[in-house]
Amino acid sequence: MSILSGKRVLLGISAGIAAYKSVALVRLLIKHGADVRVVMTPASKEFVTPLTLSTLSKHPVLSEFSNTEQENPVWNNHVDLGLWADLFLIAPATANTLSKMSSGQCDNLLLATYLSAKCPTYVAPAMDLDMYQHLSTTANLEKLSSNGVTIIPAEEGELASGLVGYGRMAEPEHIVSYLSDHLLHNAPWYGKTVMITAGPTHEPIDPVRYIGNHSTGTMGYRLAEVAAQLGAEVILISGPTHLISDHPNIRTHRVITADDMMEVVKKNFQKADIAICSAAVADYKPVAASDIKLKKSDKPLELILVKNPDILAWCGEQKKKQYLIGFALETHNALTYAKAKLQNKNCDLIVLNSLRDTGAGFGTTTNQVTLIDKQLSAFPLELKDKSIVAQEICEFILKQKHD
Ligand code: C5P
Repeated sequence: MSILSGKRVLLGISAGIAAYKSVALVRLLIKHGADVRVVMTPASKEFVTPLTLSTLSKHPVLSEFSNTEQENPVWNNHVDLGLWADLFLIAPATANTLSKMSSGQCDNLLLATYLSAKCPTYVAPAMDLDMYQHLSTTANLEKLSSNGVTIIPAEEGELASGLVGYGRMAEPEHIVSYLSDHLLHNAPWYGKTVMITAGPTHEPIDPVRYIGNHSTGTMGYRLAEVAAQLGAEVILISGPTHLISDHPNIRTHRVITADDMMEVVKKNFQKADIAICSAAVADYKPVAASDIKLKKSDKPLELILVKNPDILAWCGEQKKKQYLIGFALETHNALTYAKAKLQNKNCDLIVLNSLRDTGAGFGTTTNQVTLIDKQLSAFPLELKDKSIVAQEICEFILKQKHD
């Protein structure tokens, strides 16, 4: 999973020969999971067709303030377009467009969108060697940079004029990796380590059978993805589940039993800035697992169970700088038990699931949780998809934990 996944990218195209590369750029951004819309300067349509770009982006391409050719003309709202975007990438950015951006002119839809956009803006300049080196261009780029625009440097190579030097628009792959790195380094949890336990544990009875529970690990995996998208290095300690995580910032340790999970937590907890214990750890395990399969007989089978280590409680005892989050799954007196858990296990936050609520808890793609903070205030969240719930939990942690 890429940091661009789920990001709304507004691609602005101005009239340079490098506009032909925008086609590959749209495809690449979409491959990284971004939702892409395109706004073009009128002149850029000479270089690449809106039809190609609208087909690839699956959105109408805009280039005029209004569409007067239609029976009922519509005004293309540049303010909405700017507000929609998480980031505005202008590639290629010609000398003309850069100059107009730097002086605040807005005689086309792309420029008006730039002036009204609230999101970060990136430009990938593309022009001939001498134009790129011209003092006016250098000054415009400096001014844009001091206004907060990020410049994706032009590259060296053969230019449309036949000259060789700097001025080529960065290759689409380089633009995408520049964006990804930049987003990552500016993400709120960049440089932080988040440790997450997820899924069930299986406590063996014999080589064939185990004691387990219905947890699928979905909530923990969604939390891991959101934390990674926020820039964190994630240590995901997962019990048995079919889920996988392919985000480059998530290192997954697979374990089977609570004892295995405890061991991996002990090795990693001190590295963590934030620790989220979302695993449904089995409270008990058979005192000893049989080496051979237990044969059935007509007599009742007695299993002696002993307590497993309480991983969250251990984290609560050990914690120094860590912001510690526990989960509680209750069937009755939920709030009272959850508040007691927060205090007994020395947590900073408890995420309470109630099994009584439809659509919440095990095996569903949705969840309804209530967050309980250290002041014992309760914040119920709405029933939503688990990835949105994960986002809201992380946003809550971000607000509470400032360092
Ligand atoms: O006490 P209870 O099991 O209800 O607490 C649930 C919380 O404690 C969850 O965050 C769960 O991940 C954690 N837990 C744990 N180790 C256990 C039992 C629960 O980390 N053995």
